[in-house]
Amino acid sequence: MSIYSLPLSVTARAGTNIALVKYWGKRDPTLNLPATGSLSLTLANLGSETRVRFAPDAEAAEGGDRITLDGAPAPPRFAERVRRFLDLVRQEARIGLPAEVATRNSVPTAAGLASSAAGFAALALAASRAAGMKLLPPELSALARQGSGSAARSIFGGFVEMAAGERSDGSDACAQALLPASAWNVRLVVAITAEGSKAIGSSEAMELTAKTSPYYSGWLQAVPQDLVAARAAVLAQDLAGLGRVAERNAVRMHACAMAADPPIVYWNGATLAAMETVWRLRTAGTETFFTIDAGPHVKVLCAASDATLVEPALASTPGVLRTLVLAPGPGAEVVREERR
Ligand code: DP6
Repeated sequence: MSIYSLPLSVTARAGTNIALVKYWGKRDPTLNLPATGSLSLTLANLGSETRVRFAPDAEAAEGGDRITLDGAPAPPRFAERVRRFLDLVRQEARIGLPAEVATRNSVPTAAGLASSAAGFAALALAASRAAGMKLLPPELSALARQGSGSAARSIFGGFVEMAAGERSDGSDACAQALLPASAWNVRLVVAITAEGSKAIGSSEAMELTAKTSPYYSGWLQAVPQDLVAARAAVLAQDLAGLGRVAERNAVRMHACAMAADPPIVYWNGATLAAMETVWRLRTAGTETFFTIDAGPHVKVLCAASDATLVEPALASTPGVLRTLVLAPGPGAEVVREERR
């Protein structure tokens, strides 16, 4: 067999992203279409690297795809989500081969640090290339969205806007780049306030919110104006403008989820303490703003030059376990392609 007919093994990496205008609710759960647009920042040095190869010998001993996470057989729920995603790729590429997928995360999986965003962005790129497809960035973003809504944004670097789209096939529900990572020197300081995975996953929590929260319609109504304001602030590199929108948008998302039945409460005592630290810093004159995802950690946006002040203030907040200082990063990229 010539080297050119060997299956293509593709390794891709993607950084996680943190939404500053949140996606919380779906207009179509089957195609995973978001109910509203969203806006995020893709981060450097916190993400996923995934190697994919479709070949007859990639089949697991027990049948199906061979999937590993950080060097060990992947947990069943993770493996099932990856398998469903690979089926989409196989369908589009018209191939029937099993796949070997090896994922390494530099994000604690499901700890509320958006590992699914980086994971499905890297998987969409590696799997589509390994299956012989060369998708354009918007197509790749729409594919990643079917793995996880937030993953559609990690295809691009820096500040990114995701469109809700209008088409029923979801082809226009994809992200686009707003401002490259190198254009604006901001930092996101993450205050980790608990160990372990979140109590309720975002897909399930969104569904419960949409079904039972009387504030869900108010949330849907408020997001478009947050998007307009956040987009304008990003383009003008107006930190205070962007930060104010991000903070109110995050609190509204949580208020809406807290009003679900049963209530969805992601915060703990340290979450509130970290929010107070941010308000205290702001009163003292430092432009700093928080956002919070489907977990108890607090993510704080500030100018790069202020991170040396913000980080110790958060680290010494009661209940904060550790902090991470993260810079804007690039979009998903192929790191290796080999025939084997
Ligand atoms: C709070 O993208 O994890 O982080 O599409 O169901 O996989 P699925 O949801 P997911 O939800 C992200 C929720 C969020 C806000 C955001 O990232 O926009």
